[in-house]
Amino acid sequence: MARTLLVCFVLISLECIWCKSSIRRFPDGFQFGASTAAYQVEGGWSEDGKGLSIWDVATHMQPSPIKDGSSGDIAANSYHLYKRDVEIAKELGLDFYRFSVSWTRILPNGLTNKINKLGIAYYNGLIDELLRNNIKPFLTIYHWDLPYELQKLGGWVNPLVTEWFVDYAKVLFDNFGDRVQLWVTINEPKQICYEGYGDVSKAPFINATGIGEYICAKNVLLAHAKVYHLYNDHYRQLQNGSIGISISCTWFDPASDTFDDQQGARDARRFDWGIYAHPIFSKDGDFPIEVKRNIAYKSAEQGYSKSRLPVLSNSEITFIRGSSDFFGVNTYTSKLAYRDASLDEMYPAPSYSDDIGVVITKDPSWPQGQSNWLQEVPWGFYKLLMEIKDLYENPLVFITENGWSTAGGLLDDDRVRYYRNYLTALLDALNQGCNVKGYTAWSLIDNFEWKQGYTEKFGLYQVDFTSPDLTRRPRKSAYIYKEIIRSKQLDLNFEPALEEVYESPDV
Ligand code: NOJ
Repeated sequence: MARTLLVCFVLISLECIWCKSSIRRFPDGFQFGASTAAYQVEGGWSEDGKGLSIWDVATHMQPSPIKDGSSGDIAANSYHLYKRDVEIAKELGLDFYRFSVSWTRILPNGLTNKINKLGIAYYNGLIDELLRNNIKPFLTIYHWDLPYELQKLGGWVNPLVTEWFVDYAKVLFDNFGDRVQLWVTINEPKQICYEGYGDVSKAPFINATGIGEYICAKNVLLAHAKVYHLYNDHYRQLQNGSIGISISCTWFDPASDTFDDQQGARDARRFDWGIYAHPIFSKDGDFPIEVKRNIAYKSAEQGYSKSRLPVLSNSEITFIRGSSDFFGVNTYTSKLAYRDASLDEMYPAPSYSDDIGVVITKDPSWPQGQSNWLQEVPWGFYKLLMEIKDLYENPLVFITENGWSTAGGLLDDDRVRYYRNYLTALLDALNQGCNVKGYTAWSLIDNFEWKQGYTEKFGLYQVDFTSPDLTRRPRKSAYIYKEIIRSKQLDLNFEPALEEVYESPDV
């Protein structure tokens, strides 16, 4: 007995030393990448036959809704400099590069009556350049730049959007599927639906809170599932790829131990990402019970004859359930949630915030990024991965985005700290059996950060937006990430010997 106890003690101690050791290894086959999105990097907004997207229109509105009055007209000019981007991906040693396709570069008015050959040629060039350099292309079909012509018809709240999206995806499978084997259908449904249709933080700024985001949610889920089934039924056998969805997931922690706050934080998570993840990844499908319950209850109280949350029919539930080869997790931060009895006066009704029924706050002691919403909370990342494992029977997960914003400069020690702490949390989750197969840094290079314009920098590489050739230069974090990828391990003491980084003036 004593001997068994001693052996256990030694084993546990060894494991602790291993956990806390400054060098930890990623499992064999674990993949590393970096990500961008078309509108944020490409520029070439009206070149070679490209049509207008909702972001082209938004950034040309007067007065400008963008913080610094800027646009993605030129952005990082990747439309012309994509070979340099691939060179950067190569310098970093990436296994894959996640980029998105601009719908209106391929279909200028959103529908398939006109296919733009020059748009197809651009992405063929990018894909082929990646493959020549042994980097897998990871293609996001939709990253927020809806054709303006389709927005005029209602965009994501018109149920026909599911057909428009399928027609567009088919063009991509037909033209690129022979070489692309990693696909994301839709990037961040919550940002599309809540921020675009329930609020004004993203185009098309519809602000129909309490209604718009839920109609959109149903359409996004059906559009995703239709494209998944299209790939599954008609392309998978020949093209042999994987297709999933990227959902933005914030961890909401209870602000206190009370039962109320725990329930509140759980409801916040279900509204934030469960509303999109549950229908696809849970065993029973459908929207989460907490979301259905809260919205039905409030809707009745507000005099609606039925819930503002559209119903998913049994056949829709079955169609959506399981429609993903992997769970793409975009995650950056955590927040605190608590219940408050005086909530009724706090939020307008109906509204998404009122439906959740919690107050969301930040802990001021958590390190703050340049983006107002972004704080470093690595243990929240760990809890998130564990909850995804528990809720959805340990699905295959790809971290499709994770990263940190600064005001600029090459010496980005806070970004280095963020990546190290988040990767440590990821390793802890892997140790607990989470089935995470890849990690994607956001972003490869600085880019247009939506309504924040160029005031928040997420790049591993800095882009000098004032130089005519949009010069790209590696930040300290780029050298750190490169070493992680090369060694397949996280060495917390690794310091790059880089005179040029230290001597560079901060731009
Ligand atoms: C997630 C989005 O997918 C991306 O477009 C954005 O730039 C980053 N978050 C940072 O906010």
